[in-house]
Amino acid sequence: MKPAHVAIIMDGNGRWAGARGLPRSAGHRAGVEALRNTVRAAGEMGIPWLTVYAFSSENWSRPKSEISDLMGLLKLFIRRDLAELHQNGVRVRIVGNRAGLAPDIEALLVEAETLTAQNRSMNLVIAFNYGARDEIARAARRLARDVAQGKLNPEDINPESFAGYLDTAGIPDPDLIIRTSGEQRLSNFLLWQAAYSEFVFVPCNWPDFSRADLAAAIEAFAARDRRFGGVDTREAVS
Ligand code: FPP
Repeated sequence: MKPAHVAIIMDGNGRWAGARGLPRSAGHRAGVEALRNTVRAAGEMGIPWLTVYAFSSENWSRPKSEISDLMGLLKLFIRRDLAELHQNGVRVRIVGNRAGLAPDIEALLVEAETLTAQNRSMNLVIAFNYGARDEIARAARRLARDVAQGKLNPEDINPESFAGYLDTAGIPDPDLIIRTSGEQRLSNFLLWQAAYSEFVFVPCNWPDFSRADLAAAIEAFAARDRRFGGVDTREAVS
């Protein structure tokens, strides 16, 4: 089976640049190019949902100049690529904490979501200023407010209703999570949503991630036996 939702931790831009004697910003620029190619490839492969981890809530601890490079690249990506994404029927959604983002960034995120809201060919979810623990804590805060205001009965809190308070409300859980650069950890990405995700770790740095790497990850996924805590579906009938 093909995954309906692929999520990617785009790691290794800095190492890619370092290996070439280039500044880290060059790695991030090359990373945007890899992102463009990956969105196109996923669309052509018929993957309806693609989520990418573009900036984590922990990335604020990086040097100021690198943060402003990453913010600049996000702006550039949306300004340059939004028209093409829209033309191709891609719906853009942003998950992460909006509080504390610069007003021009916030406005671009809203513009991308509003312009593409009716698109149905493919969904691109950009995790920006995103951290899963932060997302879960913000969800719990909103849920507690609803309980305090009598809008929600504590007895009605369950995994399904809780998921409705997350930034990813309405987005299916990722079937496949890919991380590049050889690191094998989740780094505060989609902790709730990844409960039953399959993981594929790819050794190359993100700027080198190609269509062939995506195809190979999807093939590896197809060979996995997903049981969701149950038994093998082939055994279940016998
Ligand atoms: C990890 O590489 C990558 C990031 C922190 C950001 C990912 C960003 C992009 C691909 C470009 C920006 C795209 C948008 C839409 C904003 P790293 O810097 O952690 O690499 P390292 O581990 O080798 O240092």
